[in-house]
Amino acid sequence: MAVRPIVKMGTPSLFEKSAPWPMNKFNTPELHALLADMKDSMVAANGAGLAAPQIGENVRVVIFEVGNNPRYPNREHIPFTVLINPELTPMGSEQVDDWEGCLSVPGMRGLVPRYPTLRYAGFDQFGNRIDRTVGGFHARVVQHEVDHLDGVLYPMRIRDMSKFGFTEVLFPELAGVDDE
Ligand code: NI
Repeated sequence: MAVRPIVKMGTPSLFEKSAPWPMNKFNTPELHALLADMKDSMVAANGAGLAAPQIGENVRVVIFEVGNNPRYPNREHIPFTVLINPELTPMGSEQVDDWEGCLSVPGMRGLVPRYPTLRYAGFDQFGNRIDRTVGGFHARVVQHEVDHLDGVLYPMRIRDMSKFGFTEVLFPELAGVDDE
């Protein structure tokens, strides 16, 4: 268990499609060790979520949790979730814009379109099936993290590049919590 360096935008591996986690490797020391490192790294950086490629492991494993997070104050809380080999099914075709940040893009925020409601399915670390329908920030965080597994970073989804900038300029009240 260790805090590992967060891989930052510009690193080629962040733009690769990650491999499925092998179905015969659930509830293994290897998976538990990966998840422990991911959680330690996410918590140390005040992340709302983390995808395995962000610590240099290109496998389809994400985690997320939102409590009282200084990088995302006044957001609804999301229970700690391990989601492996996820499948997303948006509800409806309309997307809504809201602000996002990313530990791989430190010190920046951007306005990103996402589906406001979606169903997500996959597995937890023990191989138990997860199937949830969620909305709001929970839906946004899931889409952001799963994008990492397909080599997509949120700046690639911004429609209006005038709505992409430095946290200290866009959200002065968050200055200092959003850079590493
Ligand atoms: Ni991210």
